[in-house]
Amino acid sequence: MALIPTHRPRRNRKSEVIRELVQETNLATHDFIYPLFLTEGQNQLVEVKSMPGIFRYSADRIIDEIGVCVELGIKAFAPFPQIKEELKDHLARESANPDGLYLRTVADIKRHFPEVVLMTDVAMDPYSSDGHDGIVDAESGEILNDASLEILGQMALAQARAGADIIGPSDMMDGRVAFIRDVLDRNAFQQVSIMSYTAKYASAFYGPFRDALGSAPKKGDKKTYQMNPANRREALRELALDEQEGADMVMIKPALSYLDIIREVRNATTLPVTAYNVSGEYAMIKAAAQNGWVDGERTMMEVLLSIKRAGADAILTYFAKEAAQVLRRG
Ligand code: PBG
Repeated sequence: MALIPTHRPRRNRKSEVIRELVQETNLATHDFIYPLFLTEGQNQLVEVKSMPGIFRYSADRIIDEIGVCVELGIKAFAPFPQIKEELKDHLARESANPDGLYLRTVADIKRHFPEVVLMTDVAMDPYSSDGHDGIVDAESGEILNDASLEILGQMALAQARAGADIIGPSDMMDGRVAFIRDVLDRNAFQQVSIMSYTAKYASAFYGPFRDALGSAPKKGDKKTYQMNPANRREALRELALDEQEGADMVMIKPALSYLDIIREVRNATTLPVTAYNVSGEYAMIKAAAQNGWVDGERTMMEVLLSIKRAGADAILTYFAKEAAQVLRRG
């Protein structure tokens, strides 16, 4: 006689109500941080080719867009600027210009929506004529760590002055969290947080983002500062340093090929953990959905849920608005 199973996990899946009762992880709109692309000019709303549904907004148009998102329950945003080529230089000087596109718009958003949380990006690449996150030595081509810290510190300070709630250093220079914390504290910005890009990998998944901002490196790659995708222990080392240096939150980037790292970091720290579901991850799903090869909405929700299940508390994602609409429908 065939053996009858005594253990039946399927009993916990037998109805929608039971499945919901035993559900271990939930997604909510307040988990999302929505990255936004800013561009110069008036009345600009330009779709990023490789990111269907994602636009570059001029300063005047971003206010309406944020209004729509706030109405949907999205309360945290991460703006990134597309800087005109003629404003770029080797030292990314435009990054500390309070009247430039980025800082002006950050201040304007905070004026319109004081309750909204803005996480500003610290890295030289959008403003650098070299397209690197740090200073490039003209002769050797080396990325100069300690000289870059001065620029990153001034950038962070200028962002705090413009009203940033969270500083997000995405540059991967050594010691930048401590350096930025010190600059902020000495200038009475003790209340401004730092979310460190703790484990940011040298990933091929950033392609559409670099297209959106025109920020790709002019020469070489980012492998001397971003992490080797092969490494796991190194993420824990970066985590330990960020904790010592005073990071308030830590981030893993990208998310999907690095779910193991998210889990590893989650288990190793009491700090909040976030993950950046990056541009290439968004583009892949959009492309497949447009071809009818996957169900775009279900794939999106599954991917976001998997990032939370891996251990992320919050997710930076280009899907924020669409997922918020799905969550609202229930
Ligand atoms: C650069 C930066 C990058 C992203 C955020 N900040 C790209 C890079 O390192 O070249 C990528 C985000 C995305 O792909 O969505 N400081």
